[in-house]
Amino acid sequence: MSIKPRSKEPKTPLEENNMFRGLKRAPHNLIEALRRVQARYGYLPPEGIKQAAEYVGVPFSQAYSVATFYHQYSLEPVGKYRILVCMGTACHLRGNDLNFEFLRMLLGLKEGQKTTKDGLFSLEVARCFGCCGLAPVVVIEKPDGTRQIIGNANARVLRAAIIKYRRQEAGGNE
Ligand code: FES
Repeated sequence: MSIKPRSKEPKTPLEENNMFRGLKRAPHNLIEALRRVQARYGYLPPEGIKQAAEYVGVPFSQAYSVATFYHQYSLEPVGKYRILVCMGTACHLRGNDLNFEFLRMLLGLKEGQKTTKDGLFSLEVARCFGCCGLAPVVVIEKPDGTRQIIGNANARVLRAAIIKYRRQEAGGNE
């Protein structure tokens, strides 16, 4: 089964107008404009960043800097399940880099590749989620908008989570 990433190419000015409807054209609305672009396309394509920048009246370079700073924005199409591996200090010290590498291998991702070929999973590094007492933490954003927070993450529980979601997508039970 092949699942397409949640992404579409930006198309017409009409879409742009709908996307930013009700949003005041002001630089302080840049973050909201980018959020709407990502909600529309599933990620931030260069054309979408340009649309947001032009709409709120800031240079493309500024919009691009903001888009690359916050982990909630993605410059590539993301998978149906977005796996965020915290690399904050506590999580890093407790071995989340090993968890990241384990997930990369498990998902069959090459170095630098973010999303699986079937579009089901994407793997990303994230900043602190604010629950450092659970370190190392991995968060899985699900297609229904909910999140699974995995504390004390290790290879065993991460493998079980991936298997569970693969089974669900294949129509099986958990
Ligand atoms: S450092 Fe990972 S949740 Fe804070």
